[in-house]
Amino acid sequence: METITVKTSKTYDVVIGDGFFDDAGAMIRKVVGGQVAAIVSDKNVFTLYGKRLIDSLEKDAYQVSKFIITPGENSKNTETFLRLVEFLAAEKLSRCDVVIALGGGVPGDIAGFAASSYMRGTHFVQIPTSLLAMVDSSVGGKTGVNLTLGKNLLGAFYQPNLVLCDVSLLSTLPEEVFADGMAEVIKYGVIADKSLFEPTPLAEIINKCIKIKRDIVTKDEFESGERKLLNFGHTVGHAIEKLSDYKVSHGHAVAIGMVVETRAAVSMGLCDKSCLNDLLDVLQENKLPIQTTYSAKDLADVCLSDKKRDADSITMVFPEKTGKCILKEISVSELEAIITEGLM
Ligand SMILES: NC(=O)c1ccc[n+]([C@@H]2O[C@H](COP(=O)([O-])OP(=O)(O)OC[C@H]3O[C@@H](n4cnc5c(N)ncnc54)[C@H](O)[C@@H]3O)[C@@H](O)[C@H]2O)c1
Ligand SMILES: [Zn+2]
Repeated sequence: METITVKTSKTYDVVIGDGFFDDAGAMIRKVVGGQVAAIVSDKNVFTLYGKRLIDSLEKDAYQVSKFIITPGENSKNTETFLRLVEFLAAEKLSRCDVVIALGGGVPGDIAGFAASSYMRGTHFVQIPTSLLAMVDSSVGGKTGVNLTLGKNLLGAFYQPNLVLCDVSLLSTLPEEVFADGMAEVIKYGVIADKSLFEPTPLAEIINKCIKIKRDIVTKDEFESGERKLLNFGHTVGHAIEKLSDYKVSHGHAVAIGMVVETRAAVSMGLCDKSCLNDLLDVLQENKLPIQTTYSAKDLADVCLSDKKRDADSITMVFPEKTGKCILKEISVSELEAIITEGLM
């Protein structure tokens, strides 16, 4: 078992190990205490792991309640969020109690946002069960839901009190969902550590990615600069998700987004063609998509309703080489042409 400590507005531990899930109750009690534990999960994950978590929490004297959502990105909306906070109130959760996200990035983002705003903040624990949630969404404190106009438009920065990553929970992950997580792993490879392109044992991958994220968010918790690097592939990726009405999953959309943004970087002379070729190879090895049929105009229009936009510019992330990216301000008028280059 390894512990990575994240020092942000809250200092908290991310515990990574294999097979400690049944001790979650005791580990949570030690960090946050409280009487009521509200589990937020989706139906797939809860069916697989819900009973074990309830048993473990009850063993440590928690009174457990559960809020189960329909799996998938379409649940990540204001309606689910409002139902959840009303549920917490009905369960008489107090600020000393704890909200526990058990699942992938969708339950994690919704539960985190509820924990941030219910009574102006309750304790919050993440138990990620997807690779994507382990390497990315459970750490760093971004929480939120989608609005009709775009992804993650309503949310808060709210760090968890504890993150428990038990890699044994990944054994039930469908292949395609595993690939979604690999898209974010490859993202870390491009922005910070080329060695992530090589075959690496799972626990080591998770370890490396969380350390990269820890280093970035401790320097820039509220994304005024360096943290934007983590959005590599996401400007175009979010647009693809939105245009597909979330039928294209987050990781798959980010994979295509990384290709488009890297190809654009090559055409702007920011990086070498080999960087694009290496990216295409590693994405295909991981059965991830590399192209889209959406037009540059449609993609650009959605990007411009994205929250990452300032008045007349948008910050994009471009590779210089595998392992190093830069931030570049793009004027709104240039964006469509840049995406056009990226789609060629
Ligand atoms: N907050 C952040 O910093 C951050 C970072 C990256 C992504 N995200 C968000 O995360 C979301 C994507 O996360 P995701 O890919 O985990 O999606 P998800 O939570 O929808 O999970 C994907 C699917 O896998 C299933 N699943 C999860 N764990 C399982 C397991 N152990 N066994 C079997 N099935 C399992 C789920 O039921 C679901 O059907 C997006 O909304 C994205 O915007 C947030
Ligand atoms: Zn992402």
